[in-house]
Amino acid sequence: MARGVGSGFGLSDLPRIAYGRGSYLYDQAGNAYLDGSGGPAVFCLGHAHPEVNSAIAAQLDSIAYAYRYLFTSAALESLSEAVLRLAGGCFKDVLYSADGSEAVESALKIALQYFAARGLMKKRRFIARHRSWHGNTLGALSVSGFAARRRAFEGSLLDVIFVSAANAYRPPRDCEPDALVEYLAAELEGSILEAGPETVAAFIYEPIVGAAGGVVPAPPGYAAAVAAVCRKYDVLVIADEVMCGAGRSGTWRALEHDGVAPDIMTVAKGLAGGYIPLGATLVAPQVAAPISSDHGAYMTGHTFSGHTAACAAALAVQRIIERDRLLERVRQVGASFQESVRRSLARFEEVGDVRGRGFFIGVEFVRDRKTRVPFAADRGLSFDIGQRAFADGLICYPCSGNVDGITGDTIILAPPYNARDAELEEIIVKLTRAVSGALAAG
Ligand SMILES: Cc1ncc(COP(=O)(O)O)c(C=O)c1O
Repeated sequence: MARGVGSGFGLSDLPRIAYGRGSYLYDQAGNAYLDGSGGPAVFCLGHAHPEVNSAIAAQLDSIAYAYRYLFTSAALESLSEAVLRLAGGCFKDVLYSADGSEAVESALKIALQYFAARGLMKKRRFIARHRSWHGNTLGALSVSGFAARRRAFEGSLLDVIFVSAANAYRPPRDCEPDALVEYLAAELEGSILEAGPETVAAFIYEPIVGAAGGVVPAPPGYAAAVAAVCRKYDVLVIADEVMCGAGRSGTWRALEHDGVAPDIMTVAKGLAGGYIPLGATLVAPQVAAPISSDHGAYMTGHTFSGHTAACAAALAVQRIIERDRLLERVRQVGASFQESVRRSLARFEEVGDVRGRGFFIGVEFVRDRKTRVPFAADRGLSFDIGQRAFADGLICYPCSGNVDGITGDTIILAPPYNARDAELEEIIVKLTRAVSGALAAG
């Protein structure tokens, strides 16, 4: 839920888009904007890629959409094969949706259906984490630990159990810094035991937290530790890779980096790279089996699930990324890009942390580097920085609330995987200028 760059902008104040080319967008007044965050980490191949556009046009020329429950299609079948292969062979089925929230919604429902198929109807509850974002539909919002976005809907959300975020920069107060993983695994186990393992269906988390944390990769060993706890109590693991997946962090699955495979995984933003809306929910064989034998089919799906032109777009995007070895580029260049961001911002005392993986980088701002105290929420620092960057022709993704749901200022950088070196340098120059201007303004 991007608030636009600068919360002060009314919709009528927004520039009117004219066209995009590669890493740049152009408005009708002739201003250019370098896409330093792919909007909210969406545009992994930049804009108007001719090969993606011609794949979509070719699909539209034959048929835009053949209703998924009446027809299959070459685009859907080839995309499913590609996705299952790129995900490392740990999933059996792919269910498509139109966005990330729907993909999460399907993941939650598949977890419930799995236990229903096994006759375990008491396993109905979810465990999720504070400082997380899983989407705007009621189910996805229910498992989201994001106070500001939940407030208006409290009372109608599912009864979800929340555990601590896995954030090495902001560990729980009573946790020794080098015992974070053990602390979090014990907390999760305690929560399962307190609720009663027979009532808990799944634990959902973002392997790298996006908008709710300002790019927070879990500490090494965390993914394996929580997977072991969940396995012990017959609780499914749902990895929400809507933002961090599809190669954003340098591996197709973010959890590939941790050597861990979840039971269910979601992906969306980078799947079709924003050319046409598309999300997907991937299901491991051990979850698919009882559903298939007992119910015959997944009880989730929407009118536009598996939209043919969207599948054609995603197939083209994924083929280009693979052919041009762009994930290798994201891995290699991502590390030096992050280092350059860190170096360029080091002179600002208010830059508390620069972190992330691949082309998914977060910068956190603090009032005091030592105590890590955040700026007051009403200062709106991250949005001020975002607004200044935008006026200077750079799109970055300002986020707030990462500390306690209200305070905390972060900026996310998530450039296209094929952004050129000079464009990455321009991102750093313009971000540094925006940070300098905002901090000088007090
Ligand atoms: C991790 C994560 N999950 C789910 C969603 C919801 O996706 P969408 O906005 O496409 O519905 C988002 C969106 O930002 C996200 O970052």
